[in-house]
Amino acid sequence: MKTITLLGSTGSIGTQTLDIVANNPDKFRIVGLAAGNNVELLAAQIRQFRPSIAAICAEEKLPALKEAIADLDPQPILLAGDAGIVEVARYGDAETVVTGIVGCAGLLPTIAAIEAGKDIALANKETLIAGGPVVLPLIEKHGIKLLPADSEHSAIFQCLQGVPKGGLRKIILTASGGAFRDWPTEKLAEVTVADALKHPNWSMGRKITVDSATLMNKGLEVIEAHFLFGLDYKDIEIVIHPQSIIHSLIELQDTSVLAQLGWPDMRLPLLYAISWPERIYTNWERLDLVTAGNLTFREPDHKKYPCMQLAYAVGKAGGSMPAVLNAANEQAVALFLSETISYLDIARCIEWVCDRFSSDNLSNPSLDDILAADQWARQEVLTVSKNLESHPQIISLR
Ligand SMILES: NC(=O)c1ccc[n+]([C@@H]2O[C@H](COP(=O)([O-])OP(=O)(O)OC[C@H]3O[C@@H](n4cnc5c(N)ncnc54)[C@H](OP(=O)(O)O)[C@@H]3O)[C@@H](O)[C@H]2O)c1
Repeated sequence: MKTITLLGSTGSIGTQTLDIVANNPDKFRIVGLAAGNNVELLAAQIRQFRPSIAAICAEEKLPALKEAIADLDPQPILLAGDAGIVEVARYGDAETVVTGIVGCAGLLPTIAAIEAGKDIALANKETLIAGGPVVLPLIEKHGIKLLPADSEHSAIFQCLQGVPKGGLRKIILTASGGAFRDWPTEKLAEVTVADALKHPNWSMGRKITVDSATLMNKGLEVIEAHFLFGLDYKDIEIVIHPQSIIHSLIELQDTSVLAQLGWPDMRLPLLYAISWPERIYTNWERLDLVTAGNLTFREPDHKKYPCMQLAYAVGKAGGSMPAVLNAANEQAVALFLSETISYLDIARCIEWVCDRFSSDNLSNPSLDDILAADQWARQEVLTVSKNLESHPQIISLR
């Protein structure tokens, strides 16, 4: 029986993780749950999974949460606010913490979980992208395992099982191409929020679906792969694979290439992240290659999707730059989702902010430096977004 705490329990990752737990009650037990705002769903989850502790980030919702589960006996510890989420992350006998919070809001709870000696099943890629220089040494210090739950990184991790140290030569990340893969570049100026939220293959939260449409998601995954697997950026490649059947590939020193295949279903990488190194039987639809049909590949179009190159440049710059890129992206996507800026302005804002920061970049940032860079970038995007006409597209990262 593995004990699990789930952060972001009401989201896409969270509900899929709970689906796995509900179907394997003899294998997993929930110790803690944490959510942002959705008090009704969190209350229903507490009722079903009976955690010892739960927290809601929106402090004003705590009374409603208490009322919704007032009849339960025993009562879980109920907390609220950022401090409540951190407490859930570090609490009790949970062996693994699944990080399904969206955005850099996941960073401090993840650090708390690592410091409490818990293994991390990492879905919340923003944590590692922004906090890599601080998170990686902490993982080393506390001897915990960082198990990738992002489908591409899970695929790489699965392929790597049994590969000897030094055997890995290249990582090839597959990308579906997002909502606009078949749109001509000229039409991108007309994109609406509803268009960007129509992912062709995956059903996910709003922010990551927009990241998939700009292909920033793939750029973020390049940085995530660098931190997880230690390869240079020149050895991490992207290939467009519209069917999302091959979830990523590795090339070994002798040119042998290994791939992991499956239907696009996040439950599989989530299950592996919480059951590793075991393989648990499931009754999910088996992959049938004939039904899957043709698997095709093409080169990514960097002109149409400038965010990928931005991410490579930022990753190579290192230090706090990935935190700046990540925060600028979060803020720009939020402005796009509220229809304040256009789709094309997302990349424009991020690029402008990263370019302004590059001269102040610190090579070995502390947690405070990272949090300060994050706040600075969000504020810069808000400022730049009000005056975009005077900020031309630049692509000039140093
Ligand atoms: N969805 C996927 O298939 C997928 C695949 C790969 C990687 N990921 C990564 O997994 C993470 C979650 O993505 P998602 O698609 O599951 O997002 P989502 O559906 O938007 O869910 C986000 C979750 O985070 C919670 N949350 C937001 N802010 C919070 C805060 N400050 N404190 C505590 N909880 C907070 C939300 O709570 P409320 O809803 O209650 O407000 C919700 O439970 C992201 O980093 C994403 O990149 C997702």
